[in-house]
Amino acid sequence: MKRLTLFLLVLTALTSVNYAAQRADYRIIPLPKSVEADTTHVFLLKDNMAISYDATKPDMARIAQYLAVWTLETTGLRLSLTPNNKNAAIRLTLIAAKKNGKPTKKSKKTTASSNIGQPLEDYTLTVGQSGILLQANEPVGLFRAAQTLRKSLPVQAVTPSQPSDPVELPYVRITDSPRFSYRGVLLDCSRHFFSVDFIKQYLDVMALHGSNQFHWHITDDQGWRFEVKAYPKLAWEGSVREQTVIGPGNSGIYDGQPHGGYYTQEDCREIVRYAAERYINVIPEIDLPGHMMGALHVFPNLGCKGGPYPVMTRWGVCRDVLCGGNPETLVFLKKVLGELCDVFPSKFIHIGGDECPKDRWRECPKCQAKIQELGLKATEKHSAEDQLQTYINREVEHFLNERGRDLIGWDEILAGGLTEGSIVMSWRGTKGGIEAAKQHHRVIMSPNVFAYIDHPQLKDVAKQPRTTGSYIVSCSKMYSFEPVIPEELTDAERDYILGVQTNLWTEHVAYPEHAFYQLLPRLGAMSEVQWCSPAQKDFEDFRTRLPRLTKLYDRIGVKYCHEVE
Ligand code: ACM
Ligand code: ZN
Repeated sequence: MKRLTLFLLVLTALTSVNYAAQRADYRIIPLPKSVEADTTHVFLLKDNMAISYDATKPDMARIAQYLAVWTLETTGLRLSLTPNNKNAAIRLTLIAAKKNGKPTKKSKKTTASSNIGQPLEDYTLTVGQSGILLQANEPVGLFRAAQTLRKSLPVQAVTPSQPSDPVELPYVRITDSPRFSYRGVLLDCSRHFFSVDFIKQYLDVMALHGSNQFHWHITDDQGWRFEVKAYPKLAWEGSVREQTVIGPGNSGIYDGQPHGGYYTQEDCREIVRYAAERYINVIPEIDLPGHMMGALHVFPNLGCKGGPYPVMTRWGVCRDVLCGGNPETLVFLKKVLGELCDVFPSKFIHIGGDECPKDRWRECPKCQAKIQELGLKATEKHSAEDQLQTYINREVEHFLNERGRDLIGWDEILAGGLTEGSIVMSWRGTKGGIEAAKQHHRVIMSPNVFAYIDHPQLKDVAKQPRTTGSYIVSCSKMYSFEPVIPEELTDAERDYILGVQTNLWTEHVAYPEHAFYQLLPRLGAMSEVQWCSPAQKDFEDFRTRLPRLTKLYDRIGVKYCHEVE
């Protein structure tokens, strides 16, 4: 009897769980729409298990590879890629590809808020006895499902030479789709130049949070950073400022160091390709007709006063802008935008339009002659000069439309009257967005007080690297933003709100570590504004889920603000 007990004990020790299994947790950021978990049963994900996908689909092979890399990075588990393997522990399946055994047409359906011409991103993630099943209509949905699985896994201690502990995944059925089809993040690469490698990392972090639009601000007063082959000097000379003001605001103290750098068209194509592989569209912005000192430096004849125009070395709004009456201005813009369209396949092209003072235009004979020629008359709502800006916008919009593109502009484009199909990006609060939606124009909400992450995120500004001053955009403030203003808009008008964007301006952000510190974890908060319904949102609950996401930030090696207010 004693010997039998001993035998049973040894047998139990050999066969029972002899690892410190950690559990997956599906309460991730952004929180999926529906998570139905059965925590009494678990599937055990172990070393050397397999991921299966349809080998005929290159997108699926890539997503399977991402998942293998992410699982290794997070848990240390090594998964093999075995196409078309019904017994694999993780299976990626496109459900729209086959229905009742017959192939069906590709899903083209769009919802009210997904009217930006992109495929649906819905997915389901199921864990049961036979393993983990990722299902979607389109590869992008599988990518979202793979990110959800990645974020659900525990970040485990990994010893490269040793097998890692298995992970327990409670049985679950997750169904998810984003609230808004446009989920943007801006990076200003004019005020400070950032490398292609950094931009790739930024895109990876965007993808982790389910963002799908990278608004790339590549020209401004402080540096022109897009190569235009017709005008080589534009990037060579327009990208370099002699020095940069340092300290708070425009302190008057300069670093004495030239700052430059630009993106070749090859760089841009590389970024577009890299982003597309992560289901992110790149929207380039050529800010016009203001914020043009980079270009005016090279082509002073395009300014009302003829120059000289140095590339700006301090921040703020500049009175010198492109001359609205010089026909060469439109020749220049069309050349630049033509090359831009060749490089960037994005349906949306951003033309800025913000902060264009009219001082020079009011005094310039060419601008005034153009106003006369066009018969522009000041009205109660629109000055003649604002209408001249609208004239430029209309010419540019027509040019873009001919190339199958739509124009986005900052909300200042409302000032002279909106052009026919223009999309308004509302940054000075939500007023411009509401006005545009009422005029049946599409809108992206990006109000500064909720969405500008160049501002500090903690009340105690002394704890943080220097940023743009004036107000705090805390995580909770950003989280509280409701982009579809129910008191102001009818149901039909609300459909014009395509989505939300957060913006990282970089006057005071010169290094990648600082950029990530400004971005994170606020992008987590923004991702719930972009993905979750108002009923789902709860900041205190978000806070409880955040430490698991920041562990992943630590694992992938990106900086973030460790305090949350
Ligand atoms: C802006 O922040 N000037 C769009
Ligand atoms: Zn002029």
